[in-house]
Amino acid sequence: MKLFTSVHDVTDINALVADALALKKDPFAHQHLGKNKTIGLVFLNPSLRTRMSTQKAATNLGMNAMVLNIDKEGWALELRDGAIMNGTTVEHIREAAAVLGQYVDIIGVRSFPGLKDREEDYTETVFNKFVEFCGVPVVSLESATRHPLQSLADLVTITELKTRTRPKVVLTWAPHIKALPQAVPNSFAEWMCKADVDFTIAHPAGYELNTDFTNGATITHDQDAALADADFIYVKNWSAYEPYGQVLPGNEDWMLTNEKLKSTNNAKVMHCLPVRRNLELSDEILDGPNSVVVHEAGNREWAAQAVLKKMLESL
Ligand code: CP
Repeated sequence: MKLFTSVHDVTDINALVADALALKKDPFAHQHLGKNKTIGLVFLNPSLRTRMSTQKAATNLGMNAMVLNIDKEGWALELRDGAIMNGTTVEHIREAAAVLGQYVDIIGVRSFPGLKDREEDYTETVFNKFVEFCGVPVVSLESATRHPLQSLADLVTITELKTRTRPKVVLTWAPHIKALPQAVPNSFAEWMCKADVDFTIAHPAGYELNTDFTNGATITHDQDAALADADFIYVKNWSAYEPYGQVLPGNEDWMLTNEKLKSTNNAKVMHCLPVRRNLELSDEILDGPNSVVVHEAGNREWAAQAVLKKMLESL
């Protein structure tokens, strides 16, 4: 594997989940693969889980891991081709990415969307420039439109915890005060549509996701109907796709509560984290027996390790 940006880069998602679960049982079995190999983890945006879990996964495989918070510690990057750099930018992404590729064997990149220009975000302008210029395999640490390591960890979690062969999985929109990217719900939808699950997306009118990511899902504006008999509820806020990047008024009653869990099949509640308590998800859910959010975050390590192992095997 030379590129991991979406579910489309994976030939067999069930085999990748099985790899992740095998690595969880025996994390240090493949240390020879990463000997004398280095990964560079480049962040243009903040992170807790992705940074720590990917660094740990690389170390488990015997790799060296270097982290660069390029937005704070690097030179101000110019992204536009042909720019006359007489403003605040100091280094062009063409040189920055190429130079990083000289020091490492694999690069991980996190680059969030601006949520201003939909075409720029959905063509993955920044992320794709790293891929184009760095010259080494690239793993997405979350791009403008997808978060595949999170989605793989989510599928690992569902596979581990399911009590039915084909569980009902519901992705439900949740309230927030800020405009958040569509990357996590896009990516989760894309992976669930390929997984052996009964998948429903529930959101208020106006929060339709780009259909490229939701093909095969049942989509409804009725949260109560969606939650009935659910085995897993994936809670996440996202801003509107049209009008792009907007937070629409209302919908505070979409926050998940214990009352709403009553119609489910004792559903396990997931969230990628970080989560704003009592805005996006209630204390009673997060502190109650149905929440698996910390377990899910723990699985980020094994998801990252399964992907890095595949990349090391193809170097
Ligand atoms: N879920 C997730 O990606 O967490 P971080 O933003 O902390 O990495």
